[in-house]
Amino acid sequence: MKRVAFLLGLWGLFSLCHAQLSDAEEGGDEEVVDLFTTPRSKLAASTSDFGYNLFRQLAARDPKASVLLSPMSISAAFTQLSMGASERAEKQLYRVLRYHSLQDTKIHDTLRGLLASLRASTKGFSSVERLLLARRLRSKPEYLNTVEKQYGERPQILLGGPRDLKTVNDWFRQQTRGKVDRVLATPLPRNSAIVPVGAAYFKGKWITRFGKMGKMEDFQLDGAAPARVAVMQQENYPVKIGMDSDLGCTIAQVPMEDGVSMYFFLPDEVTQNLTLIEEALTSEFVQDLANTLHPVHVQLTLPVLKLVYSTDLLALLSGLGLSEWLEDTDLIKISTQAIKLSTVRHKAVVETAPEGSQYASAPSSSAQQSLALSYRVDRPFLFLVRDEPSGALLFIGKVLNPRDLASA
Ligand SMILES: *[C@@H]1O[C@H](CO)[C@@H](O)[C@H](O)[C@H]1NC(C)=O
Repeated sequence: MKRVAFLLGLWGLFSLCHAQLSDAEEGGDEEVVDLFTTPRSKLAASTSDFGYNLFRQLAARDPKASVLLSPMSISAAFTQLSMGASERAEKQLYRVLRYHSLQDTKIHDTLRGLLASLRASTKGFSSVERLLLARRLRSKPEYLNTVEKQYGERPQILLGGPRDLKTVNDWFRQQTRGKVDRVLATPLPRNSAIVPVGAAYFKGKWITRFGKMGKMEDFQLDGAAPARVAVMQQENYPVKIGMDSDLGCTIAQVPMEDGVSMYFFLPDEVTQNLTLIEEALTSEFVQDLANTLHPVHVQLTLPVLKLVYSTDLLALLSGLGLSEWLEDTDLIKISTQAIKLSTVRHKAVVETAPEGSQYASAPSSSAQQSLALSYRVDRPFLFLVRDEPSGALLFIGKVLNPRDLASA
């Protein structure tokens, strides 16, 4: 009993304070810019905020489901689309992508540079975006050329009919080196005019490797018997930690190679309701976490993850503020015909494995070992994959049961 109280006391050292944050929030949008100083990190902050908004929509659509998104990928697909828009429609899209306050006249070059840095092979992140356009639109060659020149992918012309599905899926599988298969999980709606598609894959490498792996342990479920999942474990693992009593969770940042981190938001209780945490997420909040979490060594237990998620995002766009745009997309640089979106496809795959480039150091004494704090991700949680140098949100996921997203 005494030991528990003592440990709780230790955890108390890692409490987070939100005073700073709420001050900043009162200032509104402008404050964000102060934290992010280069065009690249400002763009990354905007894209992350778009991602958090989209994630909230997705989480609300089905509160009992595990979900996974790559905001970078979806944002990049819509940015390609925005190149075909009238001035009015571009404004509508930019507002939702959170580009409107950037005052970046070279936004496409900034994005291309950001994507290139994120896709460096050492980060373990890859993403591919492409627009699919119906042949009957007779797309303007200038638009196709502009997109190809800027982002390296020429929009694909759909012939109409069942063969498109295989062509598109084969292309994405090749581009992702087999990591994202069947990006179109279901056939495209008949008469699809334009379809943004984004596929993303992540398998990062930890800085510190996990010594034990493959053991099966209980993962607590809200209102059901625990699931058995494979875990990886390591003593004396260097992480950064913070207890957030407002959000009722403990947050851990686990460093990966080349400036990537994984953040775990682990609720104190076993619950499917992570609304409080979801509502708090902004690029500013997470940047603040990165600056305030406390370095500490813990006994770390993580589930071995292979998450595969694919979804149609179209129905979420209205909730983001695009309902007016969806009525009249005004994509006048793509075609003279009116274009309606009938689907928006996204597929995301995230894997974790025990490999890392360094061994954890041994605890310096057995006393230290017996007092070790433990951090166990063994109940529904939320996670982020973030690129620290830019602040870009590569992935965000809610895992209610690691087995939910085992394949799709
Ligand atoms: C989830 O939690 C929030 C905040 O604690 C609460 O307002 C909401 O009613 C909860 N939702 C459900 C479905 O229980």
